[in-house]
Amino acid sequence: TPDYHVPRDSRLIRLTGVHPFNSEAPLTELYNQGFLTSPELFYVRNHGPVPRVQEEDIPKWELRIEGLVENPLVLNFKQILQDFDQFTLPVTLVCAGNRRKEQNQVRKSKGFSWGPAGVSTALFTGPLMSEVIWKARPFRRAKYVCMEGADKLPNGFYGTSVKLNWVMDPNRGFMLAHKMNGEPLRPDHGRPLRAVVPGQIGGRSVKWLTKLILTESPSDNWYHIYDNRVLPTMISPEVASKDTKWWKDERYAIYDLNINSAAAYPQHGEVLSLSTSGPIYTAKGYAYSGGGRRITRVEVSLDKGASWNLTEINYPEDKYRDFESDLFGGRVDMHWRETCFCWCLWSLEIPVSNLEKSDAILVRAMDESMNIQPRDMYWSVLGMMNNPWFRISITNEN
Ligand code: MTE
Repeated sequence: TPDYHVPRDSRLIRLTGVHPFNSEAPLTELYNQGFLTSPELFYVRNHGPVPRVQEEDIPKWELRIEGLVENPLVLNFKQILQDFDQFTLPVTLVCAGNRRKEQNQVRKSKGFSWGPAGVSTALFTGPLMSEVIWKARPFRRAKYVCMEGADKLPNGFYGTSVKLNWVMDPNRGFMLAHKMNGEPLRPDHGRPLRAVVPGQIGGRSVKWLTKLILTESPSDNWYHIYDNRVLPTMISPEVASKDTKWWKDERYAIYDLNINSAAAYPQHGEVLSLSTSGPIYTAKGYAYSGGGRRITRVEVSLDKGASWNLTEINYPEDKYRDFESDLFGGRVDMHWRETCFCWCLWSLEIPVSNLEKSDAILVRAMDESMNIQPRDMYWSVLGMMNNPWFRISITNEN
């Protein structure tokens, strides 16, 4: 395959054919990694072949900043490292297709079946995108930043756009990253340079980044228009493929992640030896929300949603906020003191006697804006942003 040069971990589950490479770790393996995911088990979403970049060519990698700017720039990789302050931020990336498998089981969507492990967290290091764009001196009428990657796909380069005022807000932490957990980016994750857009769907974090183009309107890249959208639920695959007007409506583009959660313990199909596990079983999992919003509660129901138990939540992200010194050559900064860009981890001790009476565990989260996961699924043609109550059925041994 064109990707034969890319090293990959055999524990990753391939979700599409051999090529392009799309994969997630088994959820328990992902959860057992803890707050940070090692690059080997970080989920991968590639629309096409990974661009080949030789080690010796990395210093010459170029990023262009052009369009509605007074001072167009061509920065090489060395300048990106040397001419700008370096920051290190913990960020959870989530594919908008996370949990799509559940939608596909109800009604086939146009996307492949992600389980609940299309989510991973790393410490990303690099300059803030805002500082790079300031240097290019944007014109007042510029409203969007289009980003372009080097991967050549059936419909051109991978590209998308975000609003310029988001990018210029340092609290949002938009960055250009060249390191993940202190190591140079791996080929699958955008080596040598990618955008990292905290709090938004992974599709906005363009890998193998070559261009930032400032414009008056959103990107007209094929992948911006025909991917990462939640069309109204009544639009069937047939209508969607006939009528482009549904795609061209920017209102249906998705940016901030929606609230979501899942249980890693118990896992689907796990046989719990309740009789031998002692009087308490600890259920565990993750939750995240979008736009920097903190998860304020995660609840578990054992009786189909009639009553809910409040779980304990651990926010490992918080310990990075007041980091004293540099981490991986990047300042851990104050910009994001108030914002949550990462998943949190919940747990609940359940008396085994209660589990034995139940046939399913339900999980739901709420965030600081009182967004709460819905009971019902919102099906859409691309099967994105699936976030109803997470459900694991329990079968008792006897
Ligand atoms: N950037 C480029 N150039 N090409 C891609 O295919 N996929 C996007 C985004 N950036 C993509 C890209 C999508 S849909 C997601 S979810 C994230 O990258 C996945 O990042 P990861 O593979 O590092 O986890």
